[in-house]
Amino acid sequence: MNIKTLVREEILNQEAYSAAEVSCRIKLDANENPYDISDSLRSRIIERIKKVPLNRYPEPGSPEFRAGLARLYGVDNDMLLVGNGSDELIQVLLMTIKGQASGVMIPIPTFAMYKISALNAGHKVIEVPLDSQFDLDTTSMLEIIADKSPELIFISYPNSPTGNCFDAGKIEVIIKESNGIVVVDEAYANFSGKKFLSYLERHENLVILKSLSKVGLAAMRIGVLIGCPSLVHELNKVRLPYNLNTFSQIVASLYIENEAEFQKQADKVVSRREELFDGLKRINGIHPYASDANFILFSCSFDTNSVYVKLIEKEILIKKFSTPEVLQNCMRVAVGSSEENEEFLGALKDIMVGEGLESRST
Ligand SMILES: Cc1ncc(COP(=O)(O)O)c(C=O)c1O
Repeated sequence: MNIKTLVREEILNQEAYSAAEVSCRIKLDANENPYDISDSLRSRIIERIKKVPLNRYPEPGSPEFRAGLARLYGVDNDMLLVGNGSDELIQVLLMTIKGQASGVMIPIPTFAMYKISALNAGHKVIEVPLDSQFDLDTTSMLEIIADKSPELIFISYPNSPTGNCFDAGKIEVIIKESNGIVVVDEAYANFSGKKFLSYLERHENLVILKSLSKVGLAAMRIGVLIGCPSLVHELNKVRLPYNLNTFSQIVASLYIENEAEFQKQADKVVSRREELFDGLKRINGIHPYASDANFILFSCSFDTNSVYVKLIEKEILIKKFSTPEVLQNCMRVAVGSSEENEEFLGALKDIMVGEGLESRST
C-alpha cells in the first residue's frame, strides 16, 4: 500500500519543523530560559500535583488559569483561550479561519510554525520579505491587503529569529487596514517590555498570543490567546476539550500567582543578553543584530554548517538556518546563564581563530 496516495498534497510537499534532536550539555537552540524555577515554587507545584486524581480528565477550558489571566491582563474571561503551547493556538486559529481563497500573510523571516501550520490547514501562504532593517515592508503588505485581503496575518513581536520588535506604528496601520485577523505574537514580550494588549480595545480584529515557554515553563506547554469574545467563541469549537493537561493547569495557575518571580528571571536574561551581544561583537567575522528578545541572531563571514558542527563537538547547541536566503549565513543563539554564554563565546572564538576557518567576504 502506498500511504502517500492517502495523504493531502500540501502535507506531502512540506518539511516537518526541525527541532534539533542532538542532546548537548549547553542548549542554546530553542530560546528557553536558562534558569529553572525556585525550590520553593517547585515544592508548591509538587504538593498540588500529589493530590491530582489521575483517573480524572483535566478541567475543560482551564477555568482557574483563565480566571487568573483575566485578572492579570485586565480582560474578560470570554476573551481568553489557553492551549498546549501557543503552537496549538496558532493551529486552532488556522483551522478556524477560512483563508484558503485569500491566503495567510506572514513577513519573512519569521517563526516557522506560521507557515507550516498554515500549509497543513490547506491555506495559501503569502510571504513578504522584511526590509533591510528587518522591519515590516508596509508598502508591500498594504498592497497585498488591498489586493488579496488575507484573512489572517501573523506578526511576531519581537520577531523570531531576527530578535527585533517591528515598528509599532506600522503594525497598527496593518491592523487598521486589514479586513482579516491580525495576530501579534508576544512569545518574547517579557524580554522587550513592549506589548499590544492595550490596542485590543481599539481593534476588534487584533489577537494577542502569549507563551509561558520562554519565561521558564517550556516543559509544561502553556500558551494563551486573547481576542474578541465572538472569535474566541468560534475558536473554542475547534480546540480539543482537554487540551491543557492537569499538571500544566496547576503550574499555569501558580505562574499567575508568581508572575513577578518569573519576570525577575526574564530581566536577568535581558542583562545577560547585553553581555552576550557585546561578546559577539568582539569576535572578528561575527555581526550580531540588536535583539529585544531572549536570543540573538548573528551573521558570520564563514561557513555556518561547519561552525554549527564544531560547536556540537564542544557540546554546545545553537540554531542554524537553511532558509530563507537572507538567513543563510546566520545563526541564532539563545541567551544562556553567564557561564553558558562565556563558554559559547570562547568556543566560537576558538573555532574561528584556532581551527583556521577562513574568512570570506560577506
Ligand atoms: C514567535 C513564537 N511564537 C510561538 C512559539 C511557540 O511557543 P510555545 O512553546 O508556546 O508553543 C515560539 C516558539 O519558539 C515562537 O518563537
